[in-house]
Amino acid sequence: MSKEILLLSGPNLDLLGERSPEIYGTATLSDHVSRFSEQAGAAGFSVRHVQSNFEGDLIEAVHAARSNAVAIVLNAGALSHTSWALADAMATFEGVKVEVHLSNPAAREPFRHASTLAGVVNGTIAGFGATSYDLAFEAVRRLLADV
Ligand code: DQA
Repeated sequence: MSKEILLLSGPNLDLLGERSPEIYGTATLSDHVSRFSEQAGAAGFSVRHVQSNFEGDLIEAVHAARSNAVAIVLNAGALSHTSWALADAMATFEGVKVEVHLSNPAAREPFRHASTLAGVVNGTIAGFGATSYDLAFEAVRRLLADV
């Protein structure tokens, strides 16, 4: 059975493509997921993608991943800056965890500068647009290969 990566997308990411394309680009969420899944598939991983606009759904997806997944790649949208509950859930997951953002929150409004998730993930990739997802997969691959 292939090793599963949970790719988790938070609030408003379902509007990618239409939402502030000058910040987030023109690719849709489904474009990002397809590209991520292709790379993961080629390296022998399966990808389960969950998008929700509800914090509890994301938390439950993390709980389910505890027994199914080897890694979580998480773009929690604005919940990255506010959700201690999601951070607590992420802390219970023992596999590889990568926080990802299309934009660079550190270069934007002050409320985006803090991340509740930063302290419970292996690392964060932000600011590279669609390439952030490529780099996030590469980080997962290398961390799991221990290189
Ligand atoms: C985002 C950055 C967040 O600040 C914002 O709320 C998002 C998208 C990103 O991918 O750049 O929804 O996570």
